[in-house]
Amino acid sequence: MALHIEKISKSKISSVDFNNLKFGQIFTDHMFECDYENGAWQTPKIRPYQPIAFDPSAKVFHYGQAVFEGMKAYKDDNNDVWLFRPDQNQERINKSAERLDMPAFPKEYFFEGLTELLKLDKDWVQKGEGNSLYIRPFVIATENCVSASASTNYKFMIICSPVQAYYAGEVRVEIADKYSRSANGGVGYAKAAGNYAASFYPAKLAAQKGYQQVLWTDASTHELLEEAGTMNVFFRVNDTLLTAPTSERILDGVTRKSIIQFAEDKGIKVEVRPVKVAEIVEAAKKGELLEMFGAGTAAVISPILGFAHKGEKFELPKVENSYASFIKKSITDIQRNLAEDKFGWRYKIQ
Ligand SMILES: Cc1ncc(COP(=O)(O)O)c(C=O)c1O
Repeated sequence: MALHIEKISKSKISSVDFNNLKFGQIFTDHMFECDYENGAWQTPKIRPYQPIAFDPSAKVFHYGQAVFEGMKAYKDDNNDVWLFRPDQNQERINKSAERLDMPAFPKEYFFEGLTELLKLDKDWVQKGEGNSLYIRPFVIATENCVSASASTNYKFMIICSPVQAYYAGEVRVEIADKYSRSANGGVGYAKAAGNYAASFYPAKLAAQKGYQQVLWTDASTHELLEEAGTMNVFFRVNDTLLTAPTSERILDGVTRKSIIQFAEDKGIKVEVRPVKVAEIVEAAKKGELLEMFGAGTAAVISPILGFAHKGEKFELPKVENSYASFIKKSITDIQRNLAEDKFGWRYKIQ
């Protein structure tokens, strides 16, 4: 594959305060891009990070034909840079693209672009606990035409942003009983831009009531617990971990599947099955709901301290031997090359 590389003349890295990063606001020196024209992906390029110009009629602005991914790179004490299960993100962006009638991006382009970009911007991956480089691959529809149909042209890009440990603060969630983020036959399983746009308003209403996330339920009955914000969710009832099966309504999270595999390997009982609002409310009332947590790339695991359902409020107990803390530490140690990689999840940039 011919990859055209144009390097920056001077890095802006010295102007960045790595101890005071707000999530996703600072970007590295370079970006990867590749255009789809005349029915084929053209020569991919790495260029200095910069604004890009589009015609106002570009389809992405009108119809939201856009998909994205989120992944992270970590640097170990030997200055080696690692990704966590990038094959999963590569497959998922093409699954998302297919649902939005966008062309698949070739696997070898994805990996060569990512590798070369990370080699060029290696200094931006900071060592140390909590530090990582957030990687955002995305595809947008670029055809200049306002007719409501799939675009003929696309742009695939990868941009990277240095981030610190993601701490969402104390998280309490409101169980959705009116709005939905997805429905059967819809695009919930795709990482489609519009899924997120549609979640902001219900999330704002929940925030006004003091809840940091909406815990989404199935659209038809609001009786099944599905996912929260940009995270899949787990419930610990006594010593069993429960999580919903993936479906056409739920994003197949890389963190979720890693937690299931890791927990089962450690002998923790995991039940992947529809989780009813009623059983979780009941378990909370009986004191059997010991933990709830979100699982996603940004925070790995984000404990949920309480929830509300139809105005009724529940607080979770403080537990010793928390599954959330144990699993989070174990998975981040694997990501950072501090623990044995029994499952072959790490991917070295070289
Ligand atoms: C809706 C949704 N659910 C779950 C996740 C968690 O997925 P992952 O663990 O692959 O980051 C994300 C984030 O990508 C998401 O946007």
